[in-house]
Amino acid sequence: MVKKEYHEANRKSWNAATAAHNSHKADQAKFFREGGQTLYPEEVELLGDLNGRTLVHLQCNAGQDTLSIAKLGATVTGVDISDVAIEFARKLSAESGIPGTFHRADVFDWLAETAASDERFDVVFSSYGALCWLSDLGSWAKGVAAILKPGGRVVLVDFHPFVMVFGDDWSLTYNYFGKGEPMTWDDGIGDYVALSGESLAPSGYLPGEDNFQNPHPSHEFQWPISEIITAILEAGMRLTAFKEYPYFNGAKLMNDMRQMENGRVYPPEGFPSLPMTYAIAAVKD
Ligand SMILES: C[S@@+](CC[C@H](N)C(=O)[O-])C[C@H]1O[C@@H](n2cnc3c(N)ncnc32)[C@H](O)[C@@H]1O
Repeated sequence: MVKKEYHEANRKSWNAATAAHNSHKADQAKFFREGGQTLYPEEVELLGDLNGRTLVHLQCNAGQDTLSIAKLGATVTGVDISDVAIEFARKLSAESGIPGTFHRADVFDWLAETAASDERFDVVFSSYGALCWLSDLGSWAKGVAAILKPGGRVVLVDFHPFVMVFGDDWSLTYNYFGKGEPMTWDDGIGDYVALSGESLAPSGYLPGEDNFQNPHPSHEFQWPISEIITAILEAGMRLTAFKEYPYFNGAKLMNDMRQMENGRVYPPEGFPSLPMTYAIAAVKD
């Protein structure tokens, strides 16, 4: 069941966090105009040839990845619940000269409205910190299938739910099986861009907002990998790729993570390899 009250609370928390995150990023429009982009090889490989394709980026935040995808040849639409993020994305599109259409909406509302219209997409994309905000995976997957053209694909690259069993200090803390129950953080969404530095600010890192404290709590949902895959299969899509990677891209979400080659971030020294990120591609036949 979709629990919109949690999404609405998260909207406020994301509004505050998005302003803090972007305060650390130097002139992003200039970065894009001068040839910059923010995608990692994992999603570029799975997205494949996008020339002439229509793509919707669900939970696009401030649109940096959406506009980077437009540079690969797709006609892009971004959807996000955060007012601040969508306002930022529209401004970045205008100032960078990269076209993109951005909608501020709860993803469940937008999927339902689009399914009821004639608009259909070649690709649905979502990434890095997306599914944990959704209160009903089954509805999400059915909504995604409904807005794809026949032969259309969904591509997901996200933090692996396995690693979310660890607290910031890497102690075993949280359940792997979230059972669809919200996990509430009274201190809301934090300033992980400040914690990650240049690796999440490719246009250049600025001191920006100091010691950001989010006044709005946030609510997350821990979906095990089996439930993610099952939701996609039960929505009638066929899995074409499932991958796991032993690193995060860009984000230092826990203590003492090691920044290595190409923006890859690994657990602390001495840890065994862990599934940190996963990717899924599926097609609607
Ligand atoms: C970690 S960010 C994703 C960032 C993304 N990888 C990017 O390209 O920058 C998660 C995003 O999900 C959005 N979000 C959370 N719940 C949502 C919902 N119910 N509907 C639409 N967007 C939502 C937040 O506003 C936030 O921008």
